[in-house]
Amino acid sequence: MTDYPKIVVSPPGPNARALLARDERCISPSYKRYYPMVIESAHDCIVKDVDGNEYIDLNAGIACMNVGHNHPRVTRAIKSQCDRFLHYSNTDFYYREVIELAERLAQIVPGNFEKKTYFGNSGTEAIEAAVKLARWHTRKQLLIGFANAFHGRTLGALSITASKPVQRRYFSPLVPGVVHVPYAYCYRCPFKLKYPECHYWCVDFIEEYVLQKYVPQEDLAAIVFEPIQGEGGYVVPPPEYFQRLKRLADKYDILLIDDEVQSGIGRTGKWLAIEHWGIEPDIVCLAKALASGLPLSATVAKAEIMDWMSGSHGSTFGGNPLSCSAAASVLDIVGEEKLLENAKRQGDHVLKRLREFGEKSEIVGDVRGKGLMIGVELVENKEGKKPASEKAADVVTNSWKRGVAAVTCGASTIRLSPPLSIDRALLDAALDILEDAMVEAARNG
Ligand SMILES: Cc1ncc(COP(=O)(O)O)c(C=O)c1O
Repeated sequence: MTDYPKIVVSPPGPNARALLARDERCISPSYKRYYPMVIESAHDCIVKDVDGNEYIDLNAGIACMNVGHNHPRVTRAIKSQCDRFLHYSNTDFYYREVIELAERLAQIVPGNFEKKTYFGNSGTEAIEAAVKLARWHTRKQLLIGFANAFHGRTLGALSITASKPVQRRYFSPLVPGVVHVPYAYCYRCPFKLKYPECHYWCVDFIEEYVLQKYVPQEDLAAIVFEPIQGEGGYVVPPPEYFQRLKRLADKYDILLIDDEVQSGIGRTGKWLAIEHWGIEPDIVCLAKALASGLPLSATVAKAEIMDWMSGSHGSTFGGNPLSCSAAASVLDIVGEEKLLENAKRQGDHVLKRLREFGEKSEIVGDVRGKGLMIGVELVENKEGKKPASEKAADVVTNSWKRGVAAVTCGASTIRLSPPLSIDRALLDAALDILEDAMVEAARNG
């Protein structure tokens, strides 16, 4: 049993409405807000709004608060760092916090080889660094990216992003040299094939078609991928997908850039999602959960690949000491509080429960995920599979009004990414509300 959620005023309440009116006047309209939740405070898996409502948080600040909101060890680490120094550009000088964090990341990122890390401030910067590094190291220009991918909004990362037209509209010309290929989105296979009878044609297609017809293999620097597509709909490729991609990359001497910005730091029940496929990427990008909400990203590469020259890349704030101290405590907490194990245990429960629910529901097309990175794709009906975008938006808005904060991704997928510390009682209370909202959406036709 749990006391949460607690809805004391129908949201958005009066304090929220007053702030929303001010927000509309002064904040960029480019942001996509899912519903008008205005945060006052947050603790562990509960978010409180400015009118006193308390929600069960299945968003974790968009997959950032893996150790829970305001974990006391994280805030202690930040406060203690505050008393020492706040900033001293790691691009230009040295400090211990970045070195220690890089040493620890080298242990977490797969591969029994020396690694080096470049620190930035955001996911998109981690991708920019990875792409620039791949070009620098290989002296090659072209990249392969995936349809439905999301890698960020700066012009370089946006050039690889291919998830929604609104993210690119009127921003061209983007950075040239990116070739997009279909991803292993088996529920909606772009080749209209079925797994496993497809025999992974989506990988062979790259070799037998793309490399044969229009991309000179000797110009290819890297393949950039999310091991589980996030913004694109929490899409999980089948078991051997990345082993096959790795074989292809090795055969043609192409680097693999693994974007773990959303799926990393324990989200899927392993430190990195790519561990579910057992391959070792050349470059790994981390951000979001790394510093528990403070801006920090890391581009971790094989040491022999990170060979760019002094002055070739940097950032004034990258590797900020507050963020690095927070990150060090995040790594401690994930290990010591056994959050990988909890993510797997609770995630398996959520998957089982939602799959059982989905069998009875006409609008649940697919339930997929690993650990606590779980998507429920809604459709108008199971045969036609037409994405039920409005229903998905209604489900998250109505669930929020009843005290559960979840958002969508892809065209019509409910995205569940709670803190990894969440317990069964809170999850079940949240799922009761989400399932009711799905029943209501199906009933409304
Ligand atoms: C997989 C992935 N890569 C990159 C990014 C961009 O990160 P940021 O918003 O910190 O720039 C995101 C953000 O959602 C992401 O999910």
